[in-house]
Amino acid sequence: MKYEDLIDKAQSARQDAYAPYSEYTVGAALLCTDGSVYTGANIENINYSNTEHAEQLAVHKAVHDGHRNFDALALSTSGEPTAPCGMCRQTLAEFCDDDFMIIVDGLDAVKLGELLPNQMKSID
Ligand code: THU
Ligand code: ZN
Repeated sequence: MKYEDLIDKAQSARQDAYAPYSEYTVGAALLCTDGSVYTGANIENINYSNTEHAEQLAVHKAVHDGHRNFDALALSTSGEPTAPCGMCRQTLAEFCDDDFMIIVDGLDAVKLGELLPNQMKSID
């Protein structure tokens, strides 16, 4: 799948965000190695800490459906384009290697290894 098509899916997913507190909406589209795509959007909570991030939802939906191998993630954000937060970088790193591509609409594509260098490989 072309990155432009993945960005289109992230833009569509952003329509389903629930963000009445920040009014900052985020849509994510996660490309699995088998070609399937899982989407997510941010879902806020009045206590803030229960907020689910768009990337988290996309990853968790895919993993819950049995997918564990991914090639790329596209993100669409309202306002300023923003790369995934630290928590989401770590969520991605659980399943994705350093070459996994992150394409934020409005920014240059980067590899996960650039956003989260020296990721944890072992807890032994
Ligand atoms: N947000 C995401 O969905 N992903 C990120 O990685 C950064 C932040 C959401 C959470 C909250 O609903 C809003 O953006 C403002 O932080
Ligand atoms: Zn995040």
